[in-house]
Order: sequence, then structure tokens, then C-alpha cells
Amino acid sequence: MRASATSSTGRKKSSGTNDIFEKCRSFTRPNDFRDAGLYMYFEVFEEREGCGPGEVRLAKRKVLMFGSNDYLDLITHPEVKEAAALAIRKYGSGCSGSRMLNGTLDLHVTLEAELAAFVKKEAAIIFGTGFQANYAALSALTEKGDAMICDHNLHASLVEGALRSPARTVRFRHNDVDHFERCLENCPPDEKILVVSEGVFSMEGDIGDLRGIMKLAKPYGARVYVDEAHGIGVLGPTGAGAAEHLGVLDQVDIVMGTFSKSLASVGGFIAGERAVIDYLKHTARAFVFSASLPPASVAAAAAALRIVKSEPERRLRMLRIARQLRAELRSRGFLVLDGETAIVPVVIQDELDLCRLCTALLAEGIYINPVLRPYTTQNLLRISCTAAHTEAHIERLVATLERVTDQLGIER
Ligand SMILES: Cc1ncc(COP(=O)(O)O)c(C=O)c1O
Repeated sequence: MRASATSSTGRKKSSGTNDIFEKCRSFTRPNDFRDAGLYMYFEVFEEREGCGPGEVRLAKRKVLMFGSNDYLDLITHPEVKEAAALAIRKYGSGCSGSRMLNGTLDLHVTLEAELAAFVKKEAAIIFGTGFQANYAALSALTEKGDAMICDHNLHASLVEGALRSPARTVRFRHNDVDHFERCLENCPPDEKILVVSEGVFSMEGDIGDLRGIMKLAKPYGARVYVDEAHGIGVLGPTGAGAAEHLGVLDQVDIVMGTFSKSLASVGGFIAGERAVIDYLKHTARAFVFSASLPPASVAAAAAALRIVKSEPERRLRMLRIARQLRAELRSRGFLVLDGETAIVPVVIQDELDLCRLCTALLAEGIYINPVLRPYTTQNLLRISCTAAHTEAHIERLVATLERVTDQLGIER
């Protein structure tokens, strides 16, 4: 039988006009920036042998790094590196299976118990990445008929988790507890509610109003989920995050954390009530159907966690450096967003100015990430401070920024 040239829907064979890849070819934004010499992404960093504190190597040149989330300067710490190397020697390079089947090591179980104790929860579960943890947990914990009330500025991993969930999602204006209260009031009485916020917001570096959220959420029977990706190791008397810093850690139902920032590795975790963690272990598809975190990554995070607990001076030093930077930038007229974390965001209104600035800073040997809309609500030079930075680094950064913005005629 001869195939017809047109299907029953009227679609013609090999019309050539409806290629699914067409959008990729017409996606020219990265090339526009490349052509202008202003593309600042996917820079290739090289080995760090011979680099000093706070430095990385890029195009064979040592560069001062102000764009890393290694807040406590642990990625190159000898104990962390040795723990990872030892784990590889003892366990090999991977687990080759899901946690549920053949992929659970004693290393995973021990670290889960340590993480749970660290954030004062009953139990914890480790995921392959922080993104995976948020995506898996939000989508597994909520069902049709539930409501998820989310801060407007949530990280993409939380947004994706909410999109994947069959629950009704409501967003309240960023850190606006009055609006949050109205969202709670509007929920029908039988709706089960999960409230989602961040301890420290990833781009602007501000702290979530967790006290206000807890005060309102509890009387409505809502459960509260806090992403502490940028809070753990940075805030709180023991470094357990923003909720600890604000004195509400015991009231937070679920703490999410990642290993890719203060814990100097890769991976993520969720901590909470034992029954909730056990439920996630058996129902979160991105956990059940994904290979477990490799031994080296688990061991590195465990070693980093030990240092977070035993060397609080790292956190205090990093926060002091960030405070110094904020003050110095403000005194020179830069518009720095309010905050008290490791993230020091400077508003540079114009996108091209921001890219020109970052490119010029790199030419001066300083790497900082430009964060452009729509990844953030305003264009930001997102400076992140770490325990590796010194007063001299801050002075160099501020002096260079002042000179380069003047040279480029960028408004402060
Ligand atoms: C607030 C927040 N949550 C989650 C993640 C995802 O963590 P990971 O990079 O470990 O996947 C990030 C990473 O940038 C983040 O900033």
C-alpha cells in the first residue's frame, strides 16, 4: 500500500518547515554576546596547584575568585581532599545503582545521621544534587488538592518541583508576610498547605523572613520547607543556616541543603521528621530512579561538615569580610543590596554595562559573575565572599571596581 503524502490531521510528510530544532538555530542571544566580546559564561578553569588563597587559574593566569560558593574555602582543604581520595581507594569511584537497590553505602547512612543532627531533625536523605533534592521533595510531598505557598523569588529547582507537583501553587511577593498571610487566608479549610521559602536567597543574598512565616503558618496548620543552600555553613550559631540564625530552626518542618556550597562537594539533602524522610525514600522518583552519590562526594561533604562544626572562625571571618566589602562599596557610591550573608550583590542597571564591567574585571584578574534578568529580578554583579579572602583582596577588588566603572563610564 502506498503511504499517503498527507496524514489524517492534515500534516504533510517532509514539509521541512516544522523542525523541532529550529528554535535552537534562531536562539542567537549567546552568540550576540560572544560577538560583542562580552560572553562571560562557561569559562574554563584549570588546576589550582600553585594558586594562593582565593585564587583560581583561568587561561593559565591566576585570577582572584569572587564568584565561588565555596563559602568556607574548603574545596582545597587537605582534610576534605584526603577524605575524598581515601573513599575512592576504599570504595571505588561510584556505586552504580540507586540507593534503594545496590547503591547504599555506610558512608551515606552515616552522613545522613550527621546532617539530621546538624539541622536538629530526626532524619535526612541525600540526593545527587541540591536541584534534585528540591525537585524530588516538592513533587513527592504534595498531591492534587494540596496548596504550595511559595515566595516569589524561589530558586529554579524549587520552581521546577512546584511545576511538577499536582498541587495548586500560589506565590507571595518576595518576603512580604502580609501578602503571605492573605495567601494563607484564601486557602479553603480542607486544603493541606506546604509553605516554601529560602533561608538565604541565592541571587540577592537576603535572608527569608522565616520568623514572620513561622508565626503565620503554624496557626493555619501549614508545614514549612526551607531551602538552606546558601545558609548552611554561613549563618547561625553553629552554622546550621538562616533558620538557626533567626531562632526558628526547631519550628521549620523541612530543611533542604546542598553540598555544592559550604560543604565543598556535590549533592543535596532533605532533613525532617523520620516518617517524611522514609516516605521520600520510597516515593521521590528522582531519588528512587537515580544512582546514589559517589563515595568521594559523600566523604568530602562529611569532612567539610566536620570542619564547619569545629572551625566556626571560618564562618565568622567570611562574614566579616563580606561586611567590610559592603561598607567599602557603599562608601564609594555603589548600590549594594541589603544583606548580612556571604553574597554581596551590586546593582548595575544596564545589562551591557554589567557584562562590560565583568569582562573588564576579568582582564584585571578578578572573576565575578554577572547575573542577568530573568535569572534575577534586577541585573546584579553578584560578588560572593569566602573565608579565603583577605582584607587586601577586598581593597584590591574595591579599588579595581572603582577605577573600571569610572573608565567605562558606568553609573554607580
Ligand atoms: C537556593 C538554591 N537551591 C538549590 C540549588 C541547587 O543546588 P545544587 O547546585 O547543589 O544542585 C541552588 C544552587 O545554585 C540554590 O542556589
